[in-house]
Amino acid sequence: MIKVGTIGCGHWGPNHIRVFAQLPGSESLMCADLDEKRLNQIKDLYPNIETTKDYNDILNNPDVDAVCVSAPTNHHYEMTRQSLNAGKHVICEKPLSLSVKECEDLKALAREKNLVLMVGHVFVFNPGIIWLKKYIDSGELGRIHYAYATRTNLGPFRYDVNALWDLAPHDISIFNYLFDSKPMNVSARGQICLDHSLEDLAFATLEYPDKIMANIHVSWLDPKKVRQITIVGDKKMVVWDDLDNIGPIKLYDKHVEKTSSFYSTYGEFQLLSKEGSITIPKIGFGEPLKAQAQYFLDCIAQSQGPDVADAQKGADVVATLHAIQESMDQKGSHVNVA
Ligand SMILES: NC(=O)c1ccc[n+]([C@@H]2O[C@H](COP(=O)([O-])OP(=O)(O)OC[C@H]3O[C@@H](n4cnc5c(N)ncnc54)[C@H](O)[C@@H]3O)[C@@H](O)[C@H]2O)c1
Repeated sequence: MIKVGTIGCGHWGPNHIRVFAQLPGSESLMCADLDEKRLNQIKDLYPNIETTKDYNDILNNPDVDAVCVSAPTNHHYEMTRQSLNAGKHVICEKPLSLSVKECEDLKALAREKNLVLMVGHVFVFNPGIIWLKKYIDSGELGRIHYAYATRTNLGPFRYDVNALWDLAPHDISIFNYLFDSKPMNVSARGQICLDHSLEDLAFATLEYPDKIMANIHVSWLDPKKVRQITIVGDKKMVVWDDLDNIGPIKLYDKHVEKTSSFYSTYGEFQLLSKEGSITIPKIGFGEPLKAQAQYFLDCIAQSQGPDVADAQKGADVVATLHAIQESMDQKGSHVNVA
């Protein structure tokens, strides 16, 4: 039984507390928040949980095996570093920190202490995304030409990071997972639309190896909640829509072929679109956050690194966010990903 302490009980932390309370291999032993009201709400739901306003109480409790960091992003590095130094395994929400150097320090610290350090790239545990990964790897989509992701809604707004740092870690982690690499370079534009100092909107174009172009549109200021990815291969095309009740994946048997039959005398060719059926494959259900938590527990039990969402994957996402931010600051210039 792994005993977990969660730091941060705002909008998202209670979901971590719930899954660690529900899974048979873990217990939500403690939680911390600066806000007494949030702690009382958690106590109403989980009368046995120990609550505290000082997260050091979690770090100093020898019964706590693992810490879940679900506080605002600007606290991730320090809370994760202190938790590892206290001998706790850590799952930290995305993005792992605000700098690549800090991610690398955390990776080295976890290795030195022989502890599991995982980042909450929850979409790599999403059944639709896992299906996509297998489908791409099977070769049935063909060579990927390009992909684009849309992640929009009206709010929720944040005051510690902009919409890019809030939302794009999900899409970057998904693309890095699907394409087995990180982008080589980016160019991006962002905009501050509302009356605060943070960009509410970003359009970023990422170039991956093998000439894969990927675009990410994130926004806090949009009429529609959208969670979608389209991938265009040279054999088939696919759309993932996380909010589609019928099924998250639509597979389009569409591609384009070259023919020279009518133009052979001129050495020219014509492009012909080939259109087959649209299928909705059956994808198993399962809560991604619960699958993520189970994977974290398995890694602890087996003393294995969380390969699919380790600190290096976290650093790759943070390096990409920095490149996008730099490009946005320079109004769209081409920036290499470090
Ligand atoms: N994976 C996902 O889909 C997903 C979704 C939402 C949020 N998140 C991530 O989860 C994290 C938290 O997001 P949120 O929406 O819950 O934010 P939030 O602002 O609603 O909650 C953060 C909580 O942390 C508490 N806090 C701040 N400083 C603290 C401290 N020193 N000690 C203890 N508690 C402290 C605040 O009082 C607040 O209740 C962020 O990193 C965010 O990126 C992930």
